[in-house]
Amino acid sequence: MATQLDFTGKNVFVVGGTSGINLGVACGFAKWGANVAVASRKQDKVDAAVEQLKALGANAFGTTFDVRDNEQVAAGFAKVSDFFTETIDILISGAAGNFPAKVNDMSANAIRSVIEIDLLGTYHVMQNSFQYLTKPGASVVNISAPQAFLPMSYQSHVCSAKAGVDMVTRTLAMEWGSAGVRVNSIVPGPIANTEGMDRLAPTPQLQEAVTQSVPLGRQGTVEDIANSAGIICSEFSAYITGAILPVDGGWSQTGATVVMDKLANMMDKMPKG
Ligand code: COA
Ligand code: NAP
Repeated sequence: MATQLDFTGKNVFVVGGTSGINLGVACGFAKWGANVAVASRKQDKVDAAVEQLKALGANAFGTTFDVRDNEQVAAGFAKVSDFFTETIDILISGAAGNFPAKVNDMSANAIRSVIEIDLLGTYHVMQNSFQYLTKPGASVVNISAPQAFLPMSYQSHVCSAKAGVDMVTRTLAMEWGSAGVRVNSIVPGPIANTEGMDRLAPTPQLQEAVTQSVPLGRQGTVEDIANSAGIICSEFSAYITGAILPVDGGWSQTGATVVMDKLANMMDKMPKG
């Protein structure tokens, strides 16, 4: 068994891996020697991410698809499989959409957008991945969120979608266990300098309120999440499946709902639009 994280020659596909946390995870695996593929909707983001991964020395590939479109996802997996020429050892599924909005302020389409990206998108990625996964031995990680188990004002759409994502994780851990495929969720807490955090806490005052509420006293970094993904996908974690792993500086232990309510109150007072 290796004595440190080493993914030399492993094939890693990060869906939604072109910015923020997921790109950080892709870069982590690139540094640890893996071949890395990424996918998201926008060609310019895919191109930039592939350049970044190549600069880290990785054999890298990118393709575009929208996780809401099952046929696009299927075609994307076929391309990634052609690039690797072998099976996928590690799959990270992290495409997501979020905006703060109360239930009464969302159109049906607004709700549908987030449910389709986060939950249905996860189904599309999981279903299309299975035929390409290394069996036995593959590790699948869904990127969830504290909203999956903590109700938060302005976040009902994300709460319900991510709760579903974690249930997909837990169910697939059972259904795919006999094939030797592990499936886990990583639950990032507030991660600094990311789209998700900037949307949820769009002012310095809101950012500070979140930071103050984290037991470890800081927001996380994308490297914190990359390191956790590396550990959970390594052979050191060979017996871990169906786990929902918070990587959040202890934030979810506080209930987090209190600070999110504070944020909601602040947002209520902010000008709309
Ligand atoms: N409040 C209420 N409704 C909102 C909203 C907000 N802040 N932002 C978007 N919506 C609504 C739109 O008005 C639209 O509904 P409508 O057609 O009834 O007007 C619906 O959501 C879809 O918006 P649209 O911009 O057409 O969708 P899209 O498919 O282009 O983008 C989103 C999807 C809305 C999730 C977009 O924010 C996105 O692409 N996010 C990805 C990045 C991200 O969220 N990163 C953080 C991850 S945690
Ligand atoms: P981000 O930078 O916006 O990352 C989202 C990624 O998903 C981008 O690469 C985006 O690229 C892609 N994407 C979005 N919609 C897509 C779609 N329909 N089809 C395919 N790809 C799509 O956001 P982030 O804040 O780093 O969040 C990353 C993940 O971490 C998400 O799953 C989020 O829920 C989770 N999370 C974040 C935080 C946080 O503090 N930021 C906390 C908890 C959980 P394109 O725009 O090119 O499609």
